[in-house]
Amino acid sequence: MSEPVFLDITNISTWVSEKEIAHYQDTVDTLHQRMEKGEGPGCDFLGWLHLPSGISGDLVERVKQEAERLRSLADVFICIGIGGSYLGTRAALGFCGHAFENQLSPEKRKGPEVYFAGQNISSDHLADLLDIVGDRSLAVNVISKSGTTTEPAIAFRILKGHLEKRYGPEGARERIVATTDQQRGALKELADAEGYATFVIPDDVGGRFSVLTPVGLLPIAVAGHSIDELLAGARGMESQTSATSSLADNVAYRYAASRHALYQKGKTLEVMSGFHPSLEYVLEWWKQLAGESEGKEGKGLFPASVLFTTDLHSLGQWVQEGQRNLFETFVTVGRSGREMVVPEFASDADGLGYLEGKTLDFINEKAYKGTMAAHLDGGVPNMTLKLEDRSPRTLGALFYFFERAIAMSGNLLGVNPFDQPGVEFYKRNMFRLLKKPGFEED
Ligand code: PA5
Repeated sequence: MSEPVFLDITNISTWVSEKEIAHYQDTVDTLHQRMEKGEGPGCDFLGWLHLPSGISGDLVERVKQEAERLRSLADVFICIGIGGSYLGTRAALGFCGHAFENQLSPEKRKGPEVYFAGQNISSDHLADLLDIVGDRSLAVNVISKSGTTTEPAIAFRILKGHLEKRYGPEGARERIVATTDQQRGALKELADAEGYATFVIPDDVGGRFSVLTPVGLLPIAVAGHSIDELLAGARGMESQTSATSSLADNVAYRYAASRHALYQKGKTLEVMSGFHPSLEYVLEWWKQLAGESEGKEGKGLFPASVLFTTDLHSLGQWVQEGQRNLFETFVTVGRSGREMVVPEFASDADGLGYLEGKTLDFINEKAYKGTMAAHLDGGVPNMTLKLEDRSPRTLGALFYFFERAIAMSGNLLGVNPFDQPGVEFYKRNMFRLLKKPGFEED
């Protein structure tokens, strides 16, 4: 059976040799043991490490039941959250779903239309969203680990008011599900007071590592994707990457050590280049995971993303000939769900005759190979992550792969990969400007 996530690092060899990567083996062994023993910086947040194998069957069943209830209740489902509380779901829906899922007819859709709120402070965005909902049946899942994040709290207050106006307090209650901390936070208090159905985000799992908790599982199941498959894929990767810390056999650590070695050589920017539009939010999710985990204490790779071939006509120029402080990680998808070929034309007026009968996958693969060679010639080392397909199983493996890799990478860098102290700075200034009680003199 082929691997759901396959890593090729051949094209970094001019900059980093196998010997240099192997140089990290002892450190990786030590850091691996430390993580597995539950030790090291941020060790209170290692719950994600064995989440796929450790998640209880009862919880998964409860998530599925709640998802079914919401699916039968609502034509439109809104997921409220920011950062790690929404990006994983958005990544899953984009990767596994139809490119225009919300525009499909209800018979063809996998579930209710799904929208996202609480990731900005834009009244236009929220007002436009309410236009889309119209008078159709609505349910919402408000997700916040801290329960105090301003953006989702504002969106929830507005949507709660909307639901109560339409359905009355009782009707609104059955259309709201809260996913939050077990004990703390304003959302927990509100959920208890209002009697909402509630799911818990484990204490030892941080926001950006939480996609395989009810944070991601519930909305992904509501959208009609198999969370059993997602978890099975993650479990496979968990068992593969827990069993050994060998850089030859542990694909996540091999990626982590390679990117760290490139960083040490002055490649301070990692551009993740996806060759399929469905990867857009997977790359957004990865950027948050990598950026918040590693960018601290004046250190860390800057994680950027592009979608090819779209961005070959914009940022491709920069990658080819701009400052040489970057490396590239290509992400390809092995098989499209639906194959299209270039049709035959009576005339060759458009000059595409040479492509007649070729699949778009075939052409896209040549675009990837051509880009890879061009960027390499331009002085950009690259790796490739080959994904088997767009199934939930492959995505589960990929989610876990990146979690393991970024945790190791942050540890190699010598930072705590599981905190995000820098995120607080803008909040304090904003609260002071808004005169939030307690922050006036900050
Ligand atoms: O990774 C993190 O912890 C953050 O990005 C959070 O996910 C984000 O700030 C949202 O936090 P919360 O779920 O507490 O609203």
